[in-house]
Amino acid sequence: MIDKSNIPKILIESLPYIKKFSGKRIVIKYGGHAMVDEKLKKAFASDIVLLKYIGINPIVVHGGGPQINKVLDSMGITSKFIRGMRYTDGETMDVVEMVLGGKVNKEIVANINAEGGKAVGLTGKDGSLIIAKKMKIYQDHGVDKLPEIIDPGMVGEVSQINPDIIYTLADHDFIPVIAPVGVGKDGETYNINADLVAANIASAIGAERLILLTDVDGVLDSDNKRISSLAFKSAQDMISEQVIHGGMIPKVECALEAIKKGVKKSHIINGKIEHAVLLELFTDSGIGTLFFNE
Ligand SMILES: Nc1ncnc2c1ncn2[C@@H]1O[C@H](COP(=O)(O)OP(=O)(O)OP(=O)(O)O)[C@@H](O)[C@H]1O
Ligand SMILES: [Mg+2]
Repeated sequence: MIDKSNIPKILIESLPYIKKFSGKRIVIKYGGHAMVDEKLKKAFASDIVLLKYIGINPIVVHGGGPQINKVLDSMGITSKFIRGMRYTDGETMDVVEMVLGGKVNKEIVANINAEGGKAVGLTGKDGSLIIAKKMKIYQDHGVDKLPEIIDPGMVGEVSQINPDIIYTLADHDFIPVIAPVGVGKDGETYNINADLVAANIASAIGAERLILLTDVDGVLDSDNKRISSLAFKSAQDMISEQVIHGGMIPKVECALEAIKKGVKKSHIINGKIEHAVLLELFTDSGIGTLFFNE
């Protein structure tokens, strides 16, 4: 039971943050790994609805790695990962589009709506929101060797964001929930890492904040301790020393890229902490790793 006498104090203390963020856009990437627990899903949905009711415009971009793995496993398809990106052949692409744009997207939409929000699910094909092209991945093999160029199949990178659909929805109090599927110039479908989509959308719409929710406390150092703030050069060193690896690579690169392109602040935080989004936005100290531009 909450102590009711604390309520006015908490509300008044949050007033400066409400003033600061009211009318602003905040892009939140909801990680596949952070969206497995039922209680956390409900808490996340209520955070998003609360933001909307106090005049902030949340835009949700989601991943779905574990959910895709589950379906691929049941079909006997195993995934290969290259620098945190899933190798995507035609068959895998169909599964990715169905799982992300279907099951995962609609579940988030339904959860937000159950908490009293007006969420609308989109993929990058809707309103031509995400125009993509094939990504080339460079694998570094040391200083004396040329990097290897790897073909990741239908893995895309963002070539253009057309944000009109986001503005149209936000103007009518809807909350966009975006699956990271892009469309190529010939109508082909691309699987795009959700961190990449979130960062590109955040910079295209001039977001105040980019918040990347994941399943760990932020970027961890070689002793597994959280790094509270991280700059470009140190992040690059940590990637080449493989302290940052796997799915954390695109996440860190995106967080840095976003602030270079005008997003005020970007953070990686632990979505397994209940109400992580509110804690991040409405407290001074914040949680997770904050990125800065040197
Ligand atoms: N230095 C590091 N600090 C923190 N996590 C790291 C680090 N290096 C690698 N990781 C891994 O990165 C993972 C997070 O990325 P991952 O892509 O798996 O999840 P996600 O992006 O939250 O979900 P999804 O990809 O489904 O949207 C962590 O669970 C951790 O295992
Ligand atoms: Mg990931």
